[in-house]
Amino acid sequence: MNETSIRTFWNSHPCGEDLIGSAHRYTSNYEAFFRRYDEYRYRTEAHIPQCLDAIGFKGQRTLEIGLGQGADSEQIIRRGAIWSGLDLTPESVERVRLRLALRQLPFEALEQGSALAIPFNDRTFDIVYSHGVLHHIPDIERAQEEIHRVLKPQGELVVMLYAKWSLNYLLSIALLRRLGLILLYGGGYTDDSIYGRHLENARQMGLAQYLRMKNFIHRNTDGPLNPYAKVYDLAQVRQDFRKFKVVRAYKRFMHAPPLPVGWLPLQRALGWHLWVHLRPVSG
Ligand SMILES: C[S@@+](CC[C@H](N)C(=O)[O-])C[C@H]1O[C@@H](n2cnc3c(N)ncnc32)[C@H](O)[C@@H]1O
Repeated sequence: MNETSIRTFWNSHPCGEDLIGSAHRYTSNYEAFFRRYDEYRYRTEAHIPQCLDAIGFKGQRTLEIGLGQGADSEQIIRRGAIWSGLDLTPESVERVRLRLALRQLPFEALEQGSALAIPFNDRTFDIVYSHGVLHHIPDIERAQEEIHRVLKPQGELVVMLYAKWSLNYLLSIALLRRLGLILLYGGGYTDDSIYGRHLENARQMGLAQYLRMKNFIHRNTDGPLNPYAKVYDLAQVRQDFRKFKVVRAYKRFMHAPPLPVGWLPLQRALGWHLWVHLRPVSG
């Protein structure tokens, strides 16, 4: 697994675009694209603005890592942060630059680069925010060291990671989707749909190998072409974020496709998004 394949994936599959249709359909009207994207995002993930409200961004020098379409970037700036952004892909950086220009929002820096080599000085930021990104970085050891380096000693890291103890992981991914694939596998089914892509992956790797959770998980969080993903519980957070201590954690977002579970009041126990607040430890 190298960073080039991860960059290539995210550059050609900008985060969340499949949910509302390609931005390239909106070339003459990106304003409409961003508006539609944000409406969709904050309707289906209405907890995000509430979580952002509780962070206290006002006047804080904030680095956001992994920007996607820049929806949260805009929200963070509107909440008064002195914002800088970093993303691995030119596509995301261009979109966020365009979004912030269209909306005339101020920011300090916007860089294309990697969390593995953060292009900012030591002890620059009060807050590092990263939503849905660090679970896609195989070398998390190095990423957390880099985040520790650029945070001030009293700073805070706020991350959203995929939750292992979630309905999505335990029921949908580990059980239902694997069972579905076994049932479809013998049928000679081929097409360009999500099912066709999973079947193609299974044919290439061999069904038994593909169904092993250490392989299957990568292709079941952000689509069947996604190169790398990991799920977390707090023990795994403590192991991977050695230079931090956990100060607060909570789960949000009932999401377990193909099950329509959004209405279930179980997000705090079985939600898919694990939000964790961490403080740097010295040394
Ligand atoms: C799943 S999207 C999340 C985007 C956004 N935070 C959101 O919640 O919609 C992952 C983003 O992280 C970026 N990314 C992946 N690996 C990265 C790395 N090593 N350094 C910086 N950005 C990275 C991708 O280019 C992509 O824009």
